[in-house]
Amino acid sequence: MAKEIVKPATGKLGIMVVGLGAVSTTFMTGVMMARKGLAKPVGSMTQYDKIRVGKGENKKYLHYNEIVSMPSLDDLVFAAWDVYPVNAYESAINAEVLKEKDIEPVKDELLKIKPLKAAFDKNYAKRLDGDNVKQCKDRWDMTEQVREDIRNFKKETGVDRVVVLWAASTEIYVEPDMKYHGTIAALEQAMKDNVVDKVAPSMCYAYAALMEGCPFIMGAPNTTVDIPAMWELSEKTQLPIAGKDFKTGQTLVKSGFAPIIGTRMLGLNGWFSTNILGNRDGLVLDEPANFRTKEVSKLSTLESILVADNQPDLYSNYYHKVRINYYPPRNDNKEGWDNIDIFGWMGYPMQIKINFLCRDSILAAPLCLDLCLLMDLAHRAGRYGTQRFLSFFLKSPMHDYTKDEIPVNHLFQQYVMLKNAIREMGGYEADEEID
Ligand SMILES: NC(=O)c1ccc[n+]([C@@H]2O[C@H](COP(=O)([O-])OP(=O)(O)OC[C@H]3O[C@@H](n4cnc5c(N)ncnc54)[C@H](O)[C@@H]3O)[C@@H](O)[C@H]2O)c1
Repeated sequence: MAKEIVKPATGKLGIMVVGLGAVSTTFMTGVMMARKGLAKPVGSMTQYDKIRVGKGENKKYLHYNEIVSMPSLDDLVFAAWDVYPVNAYESAINAEVLKEKDIEPVKDELLKIKPLKAAFDKNYAKRLDGDNVKQCKDRWDMTEQVREDIRNFKKETGVDRVVVLWAASTEIYVEPDMKYHGTIAALEQAMKDNVVDKVAPSMCYAYAALMEGCPFIMGAPNTTVDIPAMWELSEKTQLPIAGKDFKTGQTLVKSGFAPIIGTRMLGLNGWFSTNILGNRDGLVLDEPANFRTKEVSKLSTLESILVADNQPDLYSNYYHKVRINYYPPRNDNKEGWDNIDIFGWMGYPMQIKINFLCRDSILAAPLCLDLCLLMDLAHRAGRYGTQRFLSFFLKSPMHDYTKDEIPVNHLFQQYVMLKNAIREMGGYEADEEID
């Protein structure tokens, strides 16, 4: 097999984050603290995981940066957009995810990250009322202004490459509609015609990123890059796109636990997942139209792991329900409950209960780092279009639904896809061995 040519990770990597809330400030603060040796980037695959390359006597276990050229944490330069004008330091304090002692040592760096004006439309997140918002004539103008922000950031910082990451609030659900989302031309026309209910602000960011040569990652469940127009644009610009929705707490557990049921041929009657969450993300998701976007994303996980068509006796009739309840006292410390009704030999019922007391942004921050570094890697390797190997990090992996493509949700299959992509980009052979 021909070795993929991966351009070396020279110079600085700019990371422009849409949204300067709990997740993004936890991500940035952690990177800055780790650079000073004051914290460890626990949970990050690119910083910790080792992949086997070679077989038999020749096998070695190597970190990602020993297999392929990767930027170091020192090479990262941050910028952000937000609806609220507060800088990254104040936002990190307000988010109450991290203790002050874990923020103060990098206060000066965080103070410098002042949010650019957001490309925002209140109809997409009614619960937000910040005023750090661009004045736009129409969606086309909105896109042009975001493009200018990216160009200015490159000029001012001298970064070599830029990745754009959406870690902003979940927008209301936008059903893919071929009339507006089917082709680049249709999307551009919709932007010019200002079809505001079909062109979400997130689409303006994604379009702008791709037009400015930047890979784009959708960390929320928005359908932004899940439309043929964006697939076409990413091919035309030869840039990678990835999405959607960080796979952090409950869905991580689900995609890791469902295979236990599926591989032991146990049956499923129902899976009820509920959460309490009290941060701003929870507030936005308390709005039914915004929750709908999350619900669609969260519900997709089980169907491709426990498949009715493959095992009609076991999986034809299960009831899958997901709820998120806004409950301020818990802030970012989400608590999730899963009740799983399974059945075994001769149909006898059993129950499994999982209670995960997690910290939402603590789980999401390493995913932000990995997704940014791996999208930059994919770009340097000349990969473009939907990056399926990143499904490991995503709750509702992108797939081509126009061709009935099935997303891979099984955590361990996703891990094999991730490892094989790194192996291939490093010039090693892909394989399916488990270790
Ligand atoms: N933390 C997790 O475990 C997790 C998992 C999956 C997905 N997510 C998603 O990540 C996103 C961020 O979560 P969070 O907890 O940081 O939320 P947050 O509310 O703390 O931060 C989001 C920020 O985005 C800003 N924003 C909204 N629309 C914007 C726009 N158009 N342009 C610029 N800024 C905009 C808001 O003002 C807010 O400050 C949410 O969509 C959430 O659903 C989080």
